[in-house]
Parts: sequence; structure tokens; C-alpha cells
Amino acid sequence: MIISAPTDYRAAARRRLPPFLFHYIDGGAFAERTLRRNVEDLADIALRQRILRNMSELSLETEVLGQHFAMPVALAPVGLTGMYARRGEVQAARAADARGIPFTLSTVSVCPIEEVAPAITRPMWFQLYVLKDRGFMQNALERARAAGCTTLMFTVDMPTPGARYRDAHSGMSGPYAALRRYWQAMTHPVWAWNVGLWGRPHDLGNISVYRGHPTGLEDYIGWLATNFDPSISWKDLEWIRAFWKGPMLIKGILDAEDARDAVSFGADGIVVSNHGGRQLDGVLSTARALPAIADAVKGELAILADSGIRNGLDIVRMIALGADAVLLGRAFVYALAARGQQGVEKLLDLMAYEMRVAMTLTGARSVADITRQSLAGMP
Ligand code: GLV
Repeated sequence: MIISAPTDYRAAARRRLPPFLFHYIDGGAFAERTLRRNVEDLADIALRQRILRNMSELSLETEVLGQHFAMPVALAPVGLTGMYARRGEVQAARAADARGIPFTLSTVSVCPIEEVAPAITRPMWFQLYVLKDRGFMQNALERARAAGCTTLMFTVDMPTPGARYRDAHSGMSGPYAALRRYWQAMTHPVWAWNVGLWGRPHDLGNISVYRGHPTGLEDYIGWLATNFDPSISWKDLEWIRAFWKGPMLIKGILDAEDARDAVSFGADGIVVSNHGGRQLDGVLSTARALPAIADAVKGELAILADSGIRNGLDIVRMIALGADAVLLGRAFVYALAARGQQGVEKLLDLMAYEMRVAMTLTGARSVADITRQSLAGMP
């Protein structure tokens, strides 16, 4: 299959992956309305064309949290990335590194912190959930720090997992899940050979290191179901603030009042996110939530945004709405599943090209020039 646009990777990933994995990354919660709106609301935002402004000098570089980014993008934490390509987290991290942007390792990655962090030159970012097992949290933070991670991303929109019906239909969970997954793997031989066989072990690497024994996919589902902590509050984050001295981002903010609370708490940044439509279906798309949040906190902490970004124009739109940079989740996993590290590098190149076109024709020479003035009006 010929890849010429960022969005081509989804179809290429679909061909290669066993359905349970394709649907796990592609799906959202409940009826998937928020998932669709994330994409559609963003795509509906009109850019304001400007002409004859000598756009020969143009830069995508920026600085967020005191760190240099070659473009205003970081790779989002995505659980089980190592099931999508052989040692997938290492490949994705190397791609991000090669393109001068941060990679965020998920708590529930296949490759552990100690395998990914040394594979790259930039300090890795690490994502953590608030979990009932505080011993694991502390252990993970200590290991992240020892591995040179500088930036912590705290996911707070998962006090309980969303209702993801696609997973039960696809064989990710539900009746005869293990048998169905095995059959799907056998009928996708490229994946079975590259990842199923040679990509082992398929542990939840970080949890296995903590527990001292391998932790498989069955444990993942069980662990997700039992370990998320619905009792969490801002208070629970305080011991982490005391413990973690580097920059700390709070991920999963969709409301301006919560963003103000993040400022009061002393967060260095927020990620405006509805978890890619994977948690509460029916909440606002990020594109609609972001402007009010930016009005409330812009300049007081870093604003990152995700959910619905599929191409370079979407990156420009999110920045125009108030983000300092964006995270890519599904978009990079499709590229990784389809073509490995090279795929992620090419995806970033294609998005950078699309950003340049958009910046040239909206008259923005730098990321700082992309503002609400770059928009032709809100839908
Ligand atoms: C985990 O965070 C997921 O969205 O599956």
C-alpha cells in the first residue's frame, strides 16, 4: 500500500494487525460520539488564508517546559504499544528522538522504562496513572528518575475505565477472548512473525519488573479493571508533587475550572484531553473545550492538547485554539503498526510538511505566530 498522507496509515495498520489490536487502538467509549467529534470538530475549524507576506523563513521549532522541540508535537503515552510492532515502544521512541521531539512511555507499556530510556538521546517522558497500588507508583517513579526521565505526565481521567464495547466484540476481552486472539494472530502472519513471535516478551514490562514475574495480556485486562482508583483527588497528587522534582503535567483536563485547580496545585502543564474519546462518551471534543481553558490559564503553565489530531493542519488548528504543543496517540500507533520506526518518522515528516503549507498560507512564520488570528472564525 502506498503511503502519501498521514491518514493512509490507518488502513495500512488495519491490514496488518489482528482485529483485536486494531480495534483496541481505533475504538473509543460507548457509542464513540466524542471520538468522532474530536476529529470532526477540529476538521471544521477554518483557517484564515493570508497572502503575499514573504514566507521564505519559517520555523516549526518551539520550546515547552524549557525543552526544545523540533516541531510542536510529542508522542502520547499509549498502553500496549509493543503489541503493535516489535519492541514497539523502543521503535517509536527512536523515531521521536530522530525527529527532535519527546516520547512519553505509558505505565502499561510492553517495554519497561529500562529498555526504552537508554535507546534514545533525549530524556524520556513518563506517564503514570493514580493507582490503588501506591507501592507500584513509587517504584515506577523511582525507576523513571533513575533512567533519566525528566518529565512526568499524570493521567487523571481514568478513575475507572470507560465502557469500550468494541473490545468485547473484537476479542480483546469477552467470551473466548484468548482463543479468538490466537486465531486472529494466526490469520495475520506478518504480525504473527514480526511481533507475535519475535517481539516477545509481551509483558507489561513496568509491572513485571515491579512484581518480579511476567505479567501478560490477561493480567492487563484484570489489572486495568481492578487497579484504577475512583477515590482519587487533588490531595493524592500532593505526595507525588513532593516526590517528583521535575516538570509535572496533568493529563485529562477538559474544563476551565479544573485547569485553574491545576495552576493552584502547582502543575507545570496540562494536557487538554478526553483520552481520545476512550473514557466518557458525550463530553466535549478537545477542539471545543480548549479555547475556554486557554482563556483561563494561558501563560501560567504549558498547555498541551490531544484527541482528534490526524494531520499537520490539525496541529496548527490546536495551536491556534490555545495549545503550546500537541500529543499524537492513535496517529503514531497506526504508522508504527504499518511501517515501524520508519513509518513514525515519515508520519512526522508528512505532518511537518502539512504544517509548513498551513503556516505559509496563514502568514505564521513561527509557532508563536499561530494564534486565534490564524482562524477564520469558529464553527
Ligand atoms: C488506556 O489508557 C487506554 O486508553 O486504553
